[in-house]
Amino acid sequence: MRILLVGCSGFVGRELVPVLLEHGHSLTLISRSSRALAGLEHPQLQRLLADPSQPASWERPQLQEALASAEAVVNLAGEPIAEKRWTPEHRQLLVDSRINTTRALVAAMAALPQDGRPQVLINASAIGYYGTSTSACFEESSPAGADLLGQLCRAWEAEAQQASDFCRVVILRLGIVLAADGGALGKMLPVFRLGFGGPIGSGQQWMSWISRRDLCRLIATALEDPAYRGTYNAVAPTPCSMAVFAASLGRCLGRPSLLPVPAPLLQLLLGDGAKVVLEGQQVLPVRLQQQGFGYCDAELSAALASAIG
Ligand SMILES: NC(=O)c1ccc[n+]([C@@H]2O[C@H](COP(=O)([O-])OP(=O)(O)OC[C@H]3O[C@@H](n4cnc5c(N)ncnc54)[C@H](OP(=O)(O)O)[C@@H]3O)[C@@H](O)[C@H]2O)c1
Repeated sequence: MRILLVGCSGFVGRELVPVLLEHGHSLTLISRSSRALAGLEHPQLQRLLADPSQPASWERPQLQEALASAEAVVNLAGEPIAEKRWTPEHRQLLVDSRINTTRALVAAMAALPQDGRPQVLINASAIGYYGTSTSACFEESSPAGADLLGQLCRAWEAEAQQASDFCRVVILRLGIVLAADGGALGKMLPVFRLGFGGPIGSGQQWMSWISRRDLCRLIATALEDPAYRGTYNAVAPTPCSMAVFAASLGRCLGRPSLLPVPAPLLQLLLGDGAKVVLEGQQVLPVRLQQQGFGYCDAELSAALASAIG
């Protein structure tokens, strides 16, 4: 397939791009920066970036041209959620970087002639869709939460769903993506390796996770298999509490994991954004299991061992 990738220069994209190349797909990258992927070392990726037309820009004519020759689109774009303090300006950026990019992408797809449009759109969302709870268990049919992330994800998904008038749309509500070089695990690893790790906050909050290699396999499967359609919880079938997660990580590294990270420290650093880490949600991949998706990493300890290598 010829696939247009948006927001794929980041933490997920850096494994997704090589996976899709290995599946034999040809890729066009859309990025705000031509340097975004240059640091990645995959040989096929370096060959791809040696092509002077890569990555294409967000300018409408270039985007339209790239879309016209694409059979599929993957959209992962969005300002990182838990990196900076949530000031009013940052909240707006979190929203705009998802809603406006997805809206522009879908509008550019819709403006193409009917027989020249991509046939499938894979769009990211997040399990933050459901809000947070220590007791509830969320499936794809559960309603959106009333908090900022719940409402943001609902609006983000609605923008992507506009494309279902003319193509197959797959929305993946991503859980906490596990890989050693970034995301939540990437931040916890250095502290745990020094023996100063422990649960963040109360330890009671749920962690619904997915290994990055399973997520990339899922995206490739959803692109290639027309049976995938609609919204899926992109999580492993074994969510756990933060306390269990911290203990498993400590065991995996052969280090103690008893020193809790106090919630007020994170609140100081991230403001309201600390909620993402201090409160979680128990989310089950009901539709992926119905569809028979085969996980490489269904259990946490094995997923951590393979992520940490
Ligand atoms: N990682 C997780 O655990 C997790 C969990 C739930 C949901 N998600 C969602 O899944 C998507 C992919 O995750 P990720 O961890 O790979 O994300 P990421 O590395 O933080 O960012 C993905 C891409 O978004 C684009 N981007 C960043 N800031 C932007 C802005 N202000 N405006 C427009 N585009 C912007 C960048 O692409 P360019 O620089 O190339 O333009 C970047 O490569 C994100 O939308 C994320 O919110 C991730």
